[in-house]
Amino acid sequence: MSDQYAVIGNPIGHTKSPLIHRLFAEATGQDLVYAAIEGRPGRFADDVEAFRAAGGRGMNVTAPFKLDAFAFATDRSPRARLAGAANALKFDGERVLAENFDGVGLTRDVVRNLGIGLRGRRVLLLGAGGAARGALLPFLEQGPAELVVANRAPEKAAALADEVRTHGPVRGCGYADLDGQRFDLVFNATSASLRGELPPVPATVFAPGALAYELAYGKGQTPFLRLAQQNGVQRLADGVGMLVEQAAEAFDWWRGVRPETAAVIGQLTVALR
Ligand code: ATR
Repeated sequence: MSDQYAVIGNPIGHTKSPLIHRLFAEATGQDLVYAAIEGRPGRFADDVEAFRAAGGRGMNVTAPFKLDAFAFATDRSPRARLAGAANALKFDGERVLAENFDGVGLTRDVVRNLGIGLRGRRVLLLGAGGAARGALLPFLEQGPAELVVANRAPEKAAALADEVRTHGPVRGCGYADLDGQRFDLVFNATSASLRGELPPVPATVFAPGALAYELAYGKGQTPFLRLAQQNGVQRLADGVGMLVEQAAEAFDWWRGVRPETAAVIGQLTVALR
């Protein structure tokens, strides 16, 4: 029987992960099947145990279960620990290993695929939830001049920044504090786009030549990307590359072979303008 993997989330209907992993498996000749599981609220452990008992080897974990997955694991990678959340699990006998590839996937997409370095640049991260948390350390490892985390509740941004202060120049603030400041890379890691909302970011934050990156994917031109475009930003990206890169990291972790990502990203890309 083929090795079994799955993504678990709720809702899960629109997930692209089964398609991505099927394309990876075909391209690398790996014998595996990959399903989508709608996890039940409050029953995460039961649902994972059932999949494992049926022969599951590993899982991707998406909203709202990333904290449950972290708690469920017996072994947590440093990346998962610093994010406080897991987006991938690997079953190894009785052990359940937790990883978090969201931040490395995002950073790899920006630096390698888009060819935009963070070193010495001013970087703005909007939001202080799970998505923002995962990006902090991989960003700081790139050596930015400054990383600013902005959030509606500024104390959450300040607390996040405090946690990683020893890793580089980072500070948290509210949106109003961004008046008069400009950034070379601006990432929307809020969940605002999922509801078609715009985070209250001043339109003046985009430096000449800036990148505007929406972590959500497949939504076309979100309010955040529209704001960026209306204010002269030409480098626009959504999270499709991040999605495919984190999937490739998980695939490599499970199977020991890293698939090529460019063709898969190309296949899933939708127009942003
Ligand atoms: P995720 O795991 O997707 O990051 P989360 O942990 O619920 O989800 O965090 C959601 C983030 O989006 C938070 O930073 C939230 O800001 P607050 O902490 O101030 O609530 C942010 N967010 C959600 N809707 C937003 C909006 N319309 N404008 C700005 N920020 C928003």
